[in-house]
Amino acid sequence: MSLLITNGRIITATDDYVADIYCDQGEVVAIGRNLPSHRFQADRTLDASGQYVLPGGIDVHTHLDMPFGGTTSTDDFETGTIAAAFGGTTCLVDFAIQYRGQTMRHALDEWMKKAAGKAVTDYSFHMIVTELPDAGLGDMDTMVRDEGVTSFKLFMAYPGVFMVDDATIFRALRRTGENGGIVCMHAENGGVIDLLVQEALRKGHKAPKYHALTRPPRAEGEATGRAIALAEMAGVPIYIVHLSSADALQKVREARDMGLPAYAETCPQYLFLSYDNYEEAGFEGAKYVMSPPLRAKETQDQLWRGLAFNDLQAISTDHCPFCMKEQKTLGKDDFSKIPNGAPGIETRMSLVYDGGVRAGRISLNRFVELTSTSPAKIFGLFPRKGTIAPGSDADIVIFDPEKRMTLGVKTLHMNVDYNPYEGREVTGVTDTVISRGQVVIDAGRFTGRAGAGSFLRRSTR
Ligand code: URP
Ligand code: ZN
Ligand code: ZN
Repeated sequence: MSLLITNGRIITATDDYVADIYCDQGEVVAIGRNLPSHRFQADRTLDASGQYVLPGGIDVHTHLDMPFGGTTSTDDFETGTIAAAFGGTTCLVDFAIQYRGQTMRHALDEWMKKAAGKAVTDYSFHMIVTELPDAGLGDMDTMVRDEGVTSFKLFMAYPGVFMVDDATIFRALRRTGENGGIVCMHAENGGVIDLLVQEALRKGHKAPKYHALTRPPRAEGEATGRAIALAEMAGVPIYIVHLSSADALQKVREARDMGLPAYAETCPQYLFLSYDNYEEAGFEGAKYVMSPPLRAKETQDQLWRGLAFNDLQAISTDHCPFCMKEQKTLGKDDFSKIPNGAPGIETRMSLVYDGGVRAGRISLNRFVELTSTSPAKIFGLFPRKGTIAPGSDADIVIFDPEKRMTLGVKTLHMNVDYNPYEGREVTGVTDTVISRGQVVIDAGRFTGRAGAGSFLRRSTR
């Protein structure tokens, strides 16, 4: 199917201009004013007058259908990619988990099965590494070379579940120096946190807010600094995931000022929510139990500055939804048993546009760079994804900058029974979404197909 998008204001990470876009066979073919109709005859024309035309959002941190905390995240690859598309995200990088005693091949096969026939838009996987014997090093090479799985998440937290020691981290980092992959780090000091959690429970502190109080910002700052130091010793880049605190930001900033290839993402929850949410009445604070936890409100301004000045390079969601009813309640009498994670795959673009661009904190180009272009570049998807240019995939969002929406369970499509932003009004809403040339959201109505999304092999640095 061919598609012509006319009169839209095309915004990329670097450009801002009005033109028409002709797409065919899933790709952008031509961009220009008054494209000759005899050459660019389209099956369908979409008039984007008065709207922004953006490269599809790329969310490089999601957890769909993920077993975690004694339960499983509630969005699968169908509901999750549909919700993502409604929110203007056309490409996800989720996580396959290599459990102890299992190979990365097995993990990738399992997660491929979860996504096959379900994903509406394109997706890829990072590999979560929970142990790294010698054979695992070869597995890493195979993933990078043969499967296009070019990134590996390691954890400095969650002892007994995902946490690995510094030697394992160092081995993985060094291997990426040989195979061209990159390590993504969950940077929190798991040993210190575990001790604080046990102490809190002994004192009878069971409420959700103790999740945050036992995961201090210094525990994130220390681990971030250590992770960067290990990467420096290995002579390789590192990417810090879901950065939430000023302490961690300072470590990344210092490293970047020294010229080290340290990269980091933050997430909307750390820009728009705060520790105060844990003080909500009753068990409501469980809605925000995630790791790292929400921080003091003052941190939000520092993170926005980090985004504006390129100390932080990406905004992802860490979408990991669990229902309040029956899932978060696993921790009703013990905050440490509340499954960690919150929904966000659908709200990222509107929140960041409204609270970032409209509030004057970041430019329109920077908005596109943080939510699409820069993650595409860091994770080997650019220029196929992350921009609008001849030859790139026709993953395009027509975004109405003036439309208002009230965020909430009733207006959103994620498969979860609460929303952390319930009742919040935003200006700037995704109207129409194109995934590899197919209209999947048509003026706010879903028109895609489960299984239409493809697995993306990514390239190395
Ligand atoms: O609380 C979170 N972030 N849940 C998802 C797993 C992770 O650490 O990213
Ligand atoms: Zn994590
Ligand atoms: Zn995560």
